[in-house]
This record gives sequence, structure tokens and C-alpha cells, in this order.
Amino acid sequence: MAADSGRRPDSDRDPVLTLRDVHAGYQDVDILRGIDLDLARGEIVCVIGANGAGKSTLLKTVFGMVGTRRGSIRLNGVEVGRESTRTRLGRGVVLVPQGRCNFPRMSVAENLRMGGYTLPRSAVDAGLDRAYETFPILGERRGQAAGNLSGGEQQLLEMAMALMLDPTVVLIDEPSLGLSPKMQHRVFDALRALAAHDVGVLLVEQNAVQALTVADRGLVVELGRVARTGTGPEMLDDPDVRRAYLGLPT
Ligand SMILES: Nc1ncnc2c1ncn2[C@@H]1O[C@H](COP(=O)(O)OP(=O)(O)O)[C@@H](O)[C@H]1O
Ligand SMILES: [Mg+2]
Repeated sequence: MAADSGRRPDSDRDPVLTLRDVHAGYQDVDILRGIDLDLARGEIVCVIGANGAGKSTLLKTVFGMVGTRRGSIRLNGVEVGRESTRTRLGRGVVLVPQGRCNFPRMSVAENLRMGGYTLPRSAVDAGLDRAYETFPILGERRGQAAGNLSGGEQQLLEMAMALMLDPTVVLIDEPSLGLSPKMQHRVFDALRALAAHDVGVLLVEQNAVQALTVADRGLVVELGRVARTGTGPEMLDDPDVRRAYLGLPT
């Protein structure tokens, strides 16, 4: 029962990731200055903000690549703000960083196995099934070198590598960057497919209009804090957000 309850519409809103008053930065500068955030299973939350606002820093802080200086990061209720990246990975948090970083000369299948190299054999097979079922194009291309995939397909491969680990939270930085509009659509569709696995997706995107269209909720990071938050449609209708971040008429 417990395993199924998260998929029922009324109960899939338990926060899997909670940030309270999170401060983080580099050297003597705090970039994040009191971030509050909740992410539920199956939910996509999109972070928008100006260049240099700290969006990537936020994802790195949740993953533990940047230290938390103050505040709390909880995963399924457990405090992880001072835990190592490896420990957080073990608790189901995966970061898909900015830019493609798969292994170009290895096949799609080998890349996916690399994504699951920490897993026992049976979990690798289950992960491959999950990856090919979620992203059928990767199943069709499983024998091809990853470097020969299109940019959009490589981004799908990155997401599939994260999915190999049966994650609870996927942090994904600028997945549509540099892709054609058609490929961007496929990547945004793929984010929904990822979330449908009961995964909480924390998304950073420059393409804020499309991101807010696919996301359940959005939040704006400004001066290290959450300046505004709302559902995707609320954010798309907000005159200030439209003017400052979406380049849309108000
Ligand atoms: N490794 C680092 N060392 C020092 N400063 C950094 C480092 N990474 C990012 N910064 C600075 O932190 C700020 C936020 O960067 P970042 O999180 O990458 O912004 P965004 O992803 O919103 O564009 C920027 O001013 C950037 O120059
Ligand atoms: Mg960034």
C-alpha cells in the first residue's frame, strides 16, 4: 500500500524536498541568502531568475557540491544540509548538470550502465527497462555512440542516466539550452515523463515560458531569495514576471 499511495492524486503532494532559510555561496560571498522551497513527488518546480542570480548554485547546494552555510535542507524529512554528495545521492537526489556530459564514444546502453554503475545487477536491468520505456528513442538508439545522437537526444540520455538510479529528486540545470525549438519540446515532454515516475523535478531554465508551461509551480530567485512563487499559470499571468523574466507583453 505504502508504495502505491504516492501515486494517488490526493496524496502525491507530500514534500520530498524542503529548504528553509538556506544560505550558501563562494568564498566570502553568500549567493543564496534565505531560500525557502518545497518540492513534492511527481511535481515539477521551475526556478527562474536573471543570469548570475544563483540558480545553478541552488541546485549544487541541494546536491551538496556547494556547502550550506545556514538553514535546513530536508529529504523525506531527514536533514541532509551537512551531508556529503555521496550520501545525498544514496538518498535519491541526482543532479543533471548544465551542458552535456555523457560519454560520447560509448553507446547509449553503455552510458546508461555507467549511470547505474553503483547499482546491483538486477537494479541495472530494471533501470534500463525504465529508461527505454520512458524514452523509447533511446531504446531504438541503444547501440549507437552517444556522441552521434542529436543534442536533444543527448539531453534525454542525461535524464535517463539519472532515472537509472530510481531517484526521488532530480535537479536539472538548463536542459533545453542550445536546442532547436522542436527538440526543446521533446525535452520538456521528457521532464513530464520523468516526473510521472513519482520523481520531484527541480528545474532551472532560461526558456522560462516553456518551463512554466510544463511546471506545476515556478519561483523567481532575486538577490538570493525567493522573490515570487506561484503555479505555472499564475506566474505566466503575473505582469511583473512577464515584464522582467518572460519578455512578454503585460
Ligand atoms: N565556483 C564559483 N566560485 C565563485 N563564484 C561563483 C562560482 N560559481 C558561481 N559563482 C558566482 O555565483 C553567482 C551565481 O552563479 P550561478 O549560480 O551560476 O548563477 P545562475 O545559474 O543563476 O546564472 C554568480 O555571480 C557567479 O559568478
Ligand atoms: Mg546557471
